[in-house]
Amino acid sequence: MYYSEKILEEVRAGNDIVDVISGYVRLQKKGGRYWGLCPFHNEKSPSFSVNGDMQVYHCFGCGAGGNVYTFVMNYENYTFPEAVRMLAQRAGVALPQEEDSPEARSRDNRRARLLEVNKAAAKFFYYQLRSPHGEIGYRYLKKRELSDETMHKFGLGFAGKNGAHLVQYLREKGFEDDLIQEAGLAAHSEKYGLNSQFWNRVMYPIQDINNRVIGFGGRVMGEGEPKYLNSPETPVFDKRRNLYGLNYARKARSGNIILCEGYMDVISMHQAGFTQAVASLGTAFTPEQAALLKRYTETVLLAYDSDGAGVKAALRAIGILRDAGLTGKIINMQPYKDPDEFMKSLGKESFEERIRQAENSFFFEVRILQGQFDMDDPEEKTRFHREIAKKLCEFSEEVERDNYLQAVAEKYYIGIENLRRLVVRYAAGTGAAKPLERPKSGIRRRDPEENAKRSQRLLITWLCAQPVLYGRIRKYISPEDFTVELYRRVAERLFPELEAGRVNPAGIISMFEDGEEQKEAAELFSALLPELDTAQEKEKAFHEILLSVKRNSYQYHLSQMGAEVSALSRAIEGKKALEELAGTHISLD
Ligand code: CTP
Ligand code: MN
Repeated sequence: MYYSEKILEEVRAGNDIVDVISGYVRLQKKGGRYWGLCPFHNEKSPSFSVNGDMQVYHCFGCGAGGNVYTFVMNYENYTFPEAVRMLAQRAGVALPQEEDSPEARSRDNRRARLLEVNKAAAKFFYYQLRSPHGEIGYRYLKKRELSDETMHKFGLGFAGKNGAHLVQYLREKGFEDDLIQEAGLAAHSEKYGLNSQFWNRVMYPIQDINNRVIGFGGRVMGEGEPKYLNSPETPVFDKRRNLYGLNYARKARSGNIILCEGYMDVISMHQAGFTQAVASLGTAFTPEQAALLKRYTETVLLAYDSDGAGVKAALRAIGILRDAGLTGKIINMQPYKDPDEFMKSLGKESFEERIRQAENSFFFEVRILQGQFDMDDPEEKTRFHREIAKKLCEFSEEVERDNYLQAVAEKYYIGIENLRRLVVRYAAGTGAAKPLERPKSGIRRRDPEENAKRSQRLLITWLCAQPVLYGRIRKYISPEDFTVELYRRVAERLFPELEAGRVNPAGIISMFEDGEEQKEAAELFSALLPELDTAQEKEKAFHEILLSVKRNSYQYHLSQMGAEVSALSRAIEGKKALEELAGTHISLD
């Protein structure tokens, strides 16, 4: 669907960015803009800023940024047309009826088509499971004690033995071969032509938080290899940023999320009423997934397999959860292998009991650590205590560290004072007290290119914040002075807007289709102006920025002479303007 620029602006203007983002992120006003914890990366102190005047957001930590469309697309994992529809509805703007013309269809982007082909494939698998072809699969799932209702809820399906059927079905529905291949549903083989990748497998459609099928996991019937086959990464299937079951778990309101290892674990947990269960997608748990969970909960309960591999995976996950500022706890599954087996053997009530007894992640780590040392050997025991001290150093907050210190000392019969001395020694040695180095705004003072970029960025930011200044500097500056291509394009649009007295940064962001460019443009409008106390200092800073932009532009055009005809006159003009500017006082009042 193609929407005109006019309607896109109308929809955007009808959705105040502060309002919209407040629905997702807790924002606090500070210094003329709003701040909150960035939903796109893990952080403990807010570096995510929303600017109501400019209608843009920008994260100083990870660089995410854009306007209200960008936000909704990134947060909800929507395609652009989906974001438009959602925001139009929110603002009560009627969109023109969708025409299904071939041109409109071809403009529809690839992502939307990939989602469509996945949906069609899911439907195919779904009906196969319930047809005579799918009998093996259906019997398998029944043996694993799934009800019809559960199978329906998760849209479970079956990929039969004849791999041509799926392709035939999808082609009939109008999907092109290259799309079917890009979705990872089929591949070419000499013998069979285009043929299904999934074969003799129970199919688990993987849905994103908006219930759209983004990929599949398929479990083989019998002992074939691999046991689970998962769709490859595609433009709609990012394994690092999605979790199986989260579309349901986000609505569970249970005060926690249970993280399991497998699809089957999630399904049997949901069937037993634990609808807060999720699993990663055939890969290890990632920081991106932790950030995703942080939107919905503070506490993550790990229900990993109780074998060695499960413990190792749990230890890794604990670290990731901790970095994300989430509380991690471990559910003891013994004597069973995984939540699925546990549920079948002991049932719901026993699992609830295990949830209540879930072990604090620090104690879990210490307990696992203890297993590596022989406690009867004084030497080994000492090393164990040292390791505990090292671990305690990881708590940056003193009160917390001391609470853990006391608890662990008591639990393992270690003298509190002895342990405290060890901790102090390690803290001094490892520099745990040193403040963490945080990336500031990425300004490296000595890099001239970075400096030029910074001046250009700040000039645009400043002009947007104080449009009246434009009138005072317009005779010295033009879009050609912006040597960074993206900034120049912004200036070309911004300057006429300043001239007309109607600045619309969020609209300028819409000019860029590429997400990376949107980010950069948003950063431009969100950069922080230097914090200066006196009017005099501010004037001086502004003057310096202006001079620096001009000087850089002059040098750039000089270097272009010979390569470009207009460069000479630009350089001459630039020199004149530079000299004049150097001796001119520009007031900021
Ligand atoms: N997995 C995978 N590829 C494999 C094996 C496992 O992607 N070859 C992923 C799947 O997401 C699976 C999870 O790891 O759900 C857990 O693996 P496993 O414990 O072997 O799966 P179970 O859920 O116990 O499988 P089942 O009960 O079907 O045997
Ligand atoms: Mn398992």
